Amino acid sequence: MTDAEFNRLVEFLESRYGINLASKKVIVQGRLDNYLARQGYATYDEYLNAVEGDRSGHELQNMLNILTTNHTYFWREPDHFVFLREVILPWIVEKERHTHDIRIWSGASSSGEEPYTIAMVIKDFLGLNYGNWDSTLLATDLSSEVLKFAMKGVYLKEKIEVLPPAWQRSNFKRVDEFNYRVSDDIRKNVLFRQFNLMNDFPFSKKMHCVFLRNVMIYFSEDTKRKLVNKIYNILEPGGYLIIGNTENIDKEATRLEYVRPSVFRKTDM
Ligand SMILES: C[S@@+](CC[C@H](N)C(=O)[O-])C[C@H]1O[C@@H](n2cnc3c(N)ncnc32)[C@H](O)[C@@H]1O
Repeated sequence: MTDAEFNRLVEFLESRYGINLASKKVIVQGRLDNYLARQGYATYDEYLNAVEGDRSGHELQNMLNILTTNHTYFWREPDHFVFLREVILPWIVEKERHTHDIRIWSGASSSGEEPYTIAMVIKDFLGLNYGNWDSTLLATDLSSEVLKFAMKGVYLKEKIEVLPPAWQRSNFKRVDEFNYRVSDDIRKNVLFRQFNLMNDFPFSKKMHCVFLRNVMIYFSEDTKRKLVNKIYNILEPGGYLIIGNTENIDKEATRLEYVRPSVFRKTDM
């Protein structure tokens, strides 16, 4: 890949998806070289022409599936789920005691481990009242491949073993020796959709809580600032934003208030 081709790819991805891969040439090439060879492209320019010119969007989707980093796991960064249970859910349940409506969005849900963990926390928290609340979670990602996987909801046994044993029993059904499927009452409570965080947010109702963990690391400061501002606008007064533990938000650039590491709140009502 020539420098000019690499710059073209970087510019394309950053302008449309916010993903900045300028310092990742080796990784990008490592991921794409085989694909280009298999598909019979002679140069990266030829490939990029095909991506940009493909009206079906198929080649572009393949590119996003290959270049996004989708690493995730159940019960990742547990502090956030404890905070959800002990602080955020009691606040929502009090606030929405008349509507019984909980609105949480997992904005970079990858293969589903994060939104399913959130759904299990909600089910555990609501207990016998679980069925009386509409707690359907929105889970979105750019990659169609991880969304497809997430919707199936089938995970290797060792992936679910990080969850409390009682949760493994009550929230999964054994498929075979190696695989377990998320139970129907959890799966029906997570709505997976493809969505690019760079687009305008189409929500008709404001969110009580947004999980946006381990995705902004790929974005520039400017992109992050704009994104956090958009999230501010779709949060309920008092609503929370949770980011990854290794990420940060420039406190000067947002009206969200810092609550504790990686947790922010829209405090102006
Ligand atoms: C490392 S995973 C994080 C998964 C999960 N939130 C967690 O913390 O375990 C990052 C995800 O962000 C998604 N992503 C990257 N850019 C995006 C964009 N512009 N819009 C939506 N999703 C994006 C990727 O496809 C990937 O699945």
